[in-house]
Amino acid sequence: MQINDKIVKKIKKDFPIFENNPGLIYLDNAATSQKPLQVIDSITSFYKKENANIHRGFYKLSENATKRYEDSRLIIEKFINAEHGEVIFTKNTTESINLLSYCITPLIKEGRNEILLTEMEHHSNLVPWQEFAKRHNFKIKFIKIKEDFNLDYDDANKEIGEKTALISMVHVSNSLGIVNDVKKLVEIGKRSGAITIVDAAQSVSHMKIDVKEIGCDFLAFSGHKMLAPFGIGVLYGKKELLEKMIPFNFGGDMIKSVSYENATYNDLPMKFEAGTQNIAGVIGLAEAIKYLEYIGMENIKRWEKELLVYSVNKIRNIKGIKLYLSNVDLNSSIFSFNLNNAHPHDVVTLLDEDGIAIRGGHHCCMPLMNKLGISGTCRISFSFYNNFEDIDKLINSLNKINQIFNR
Ligand SMILES: Cc1ncc(COP(=O)(O)O)c(C=O)c1O
Repeated sequence: MQINDKIVKKIKKDFPIFENNPGLIYLDNAATSQKPLQVIDSITSFYKKENANIHRGFYKLSENATKRYEDSRLIIEKFINAEHGEVIFTKNTTESINLLSYCITPLIKEGRNEILLTEMEHHSNLVPWQEFAKRHNFKIKFIKIKEDFNLDYDDANKEIGEKTALISMVHVSNSLGIVNDVKKLVEIGKRSGAITIVDAAQSVSHMKIDVKEIGCDFLAFSGHKMLAPFGIGVLYGKKELLEKMIPFNFGGDMIKSVSYENATYNDLPMKFEAGTQNIAGVIGLAEAIKYLEYIGMENIKRWEKELLVYSVNKIRNIKGIKLYLSNVDLNSSIFSFNLNNAHPHDVVTLLDEDGIAIRGGHHCCMPLMNKLGISGTCRISFSFYNNFEDIDKLINSLNKINQIFNR
């Protein structure tokens, strides 16, 4: 099935949000995706028919819930080509990175005290490392972005060295839509012996992610941005590294045995999953992956690129628009712009009057916005359930809004 305008009309029928909000043009997919009926049903069905706590029950209902939870893990592991035991469930990308920032110290090589990030990180991949740096007296360095907003890979080579403990990088920038060559950055990191971490929050539902192909040590993402419910996220980690780490949360389920004085920890991945987990969330995430695979990741990538190219070509013609675009490649599902004389929040509010949902502001990238000398941007972010009609309506509205601010 090749996605096209006609197929999208069919796909949209799987997403009840559109039927319940007639006329809605949803272009804020980087903030969160909409959820298909298949995912919603899998969650309600679990609560209606299968609800029980996992791992500890020796009765059928609990055994079945355990099987559903662990079978879902297998689907998620396969989706990113991880080995069994390398997918840990968290709340979201933010929690995955925070977990790392608390548990990573046993992996850091003697004498290394620098963290390398990029200048386009989301606060989620910046603030946890700032706190880590304060706790451990580390220094944070940044790989610069160039005038065309792409990362300066020569600078990455310059900044990395024998002092670099870890390099943590965003795969797709949530504010500018730049797709970073994470494979190349991981190679640069490995050459100097640094731990490598990828923030895949904005890539995992838009392109095929293969952790072995990327070669990273860790990778984080959120379910809610990939058709799954809120409150479920993933931390992928290489087994041999996860085994050396000391958990972040302690309590039930993450132990093997406990005495009044001491405890031994469970095997992976349960060692990192203390307490009752978001069981329905995990089942919903597996269902979301089944849906993404049914549409096809290559198909999704190709369609979203078509949408991006189509909209950029149209939006370019609006006088008074400044686009924050890479001149190298247009291959993500996100782009940012500003309209002369208009604050992004005003543009968002006026678009909302026409039923168009986009995001305006700093997109949790305040340092990057400061570097660009702006307070924020208007951000359009697509999913495979968007089509050319959505974009035509957006362009019409933007033309109207432009008349107000730039007569
Ligand atoms: C690139 C990137 N990293 C991390 C996050 C944080 O995701 P969450 O809020 O689901 O933890 C986001 C959210 O927008 C993001 O875009």
